[in-house]
Amino acid sequence: MKKLLAAMMASVLCLALLTGCGGASDEGAEVSAEEETSAGEETNAGEAADAESEAEAADGESTDGSGALDDGVLNVGTNAEFPPFEYVDDNGEPDGFDIALIKAIGEKMGVEVQVENMEFDALVASIGRKIDVAIAGMTITDERQKMVDFSNPYYIAVQYVILPEGSAIASAEDLKGKAIGVQLGTTGDILAEDVEGAEVAQYNKALDAVNDLVNGRLDCVIVDKNPALVFETKFEGKVTAVDGAQFGFETEEYAISLPKGDTELAEKINAALQEMMEDGTFDALVEEYIEGGKG
Ligand code: ARG
Repeated sequence: MKKLLAAMMASVLCLALLTGCGGASDEGAEVSAEEETSAGEETNAGEAADAESEAEAADGESTDGSGALDDGVLNVGTNAEFPPFEYVDDNGEPDGFDIALIKAIGEKMGVEVQVENMEFDALVASIGRKIDVAIAGMTITDERQKMVDFSNPYYIAVQYVILPEGSAIASAEDLKGKAIGVQLGTTGDILAEDVEGAEVAQYNKALDAVNDLVNGRLDCVIVDKNPALVFETKFEGKVTAVDGAQFGFETEEYAISLPKGDTELAEKINAALQEMMEDGTFDALVEEYIEGGKG
C-alpha cells in the first residue's frame, strides 16, 4: 500500500517537476558560480563547468553528469535535529533514515556522499553553493520551489502538536493566543505564525522547544509527526503528541531539495529513488529507522 502510494505520488510529482524546472534557472546558476571556490569543489571556472553540463544535458548520455557531480562527490546538507530522519549518532556523525537513504542513492549513482550538518533554516539558500542537495525531512512548499527544485516525494507527513500532559488544548480554536514553540523556518513555524494571537518562539532545535514545553515555558510545540513521536517517548509521561489533523493541519510531502533547473541531477536522483522503492530497499529503511524505532 505504502509502495503504491509512493509510486502514485512519484508520477504526479514527475509532471510537476517537468513543468516546474524550466523557470527561473538563472538565479541558481549565478549563485553557484560565485561560490565555487569556497565550496572547494572545482578548480576551474564555475561558468565553464556549468556550460559543459548544459551541453552534456543536451546530448543525453553523459559520463560525469551534472556540474554538481563533476568531482564524483555529492555534497548533502542536512539538519541532524530531526529524529528518526536525521540525528547525530554516538560517534558524532549524522545518521537516520534520510542519511541512509541519500547514501544508498549515492551508491546507485556511483558517487561518494558527504553529509554536512547545518541549520535547517540555511539549507535551501546553501544549495548550489556549500551543498549540492539537501535531505532533511523537507516538505515541498511553493515558497521553497521558488529557490530550489524537489525530487519526487518519498514520505508523507503531517505536523503534530506536542502538549504537556493534561493540557486542555484540543482544537485549532484552542491554539489561539498560546505560546507555541517551533523549529525556525519549518512548516510548523509557518503554521504557528498563522495562529491568531499566538506568541511563536522559534528554536534552532525542536528538542529545545520541547524542553521549554516540559519546563512550562510554552503551551505547545508544533513539529512533524515522527520527531513528535520520538520526543513523546523521550519525555514519556510528561508530554502527549497529538495528530495535527485534529487541528486542521494538512499532510505534507518530504522530498530531496535540488539545485534549480538541474534536470539531469533530478533525473538521476529520481531514478535511484524509484529503483529503491521498487526493489524493497526503501521499505527496508522505513522498517529499520522509522517503524523499528531506531534513532
Ligand atoms: N518538514 C518540515 C519542513 O520542511 C520540518 C523539517 C525539519 N527538518 C530537520 N531536519 N530539522 O519545514
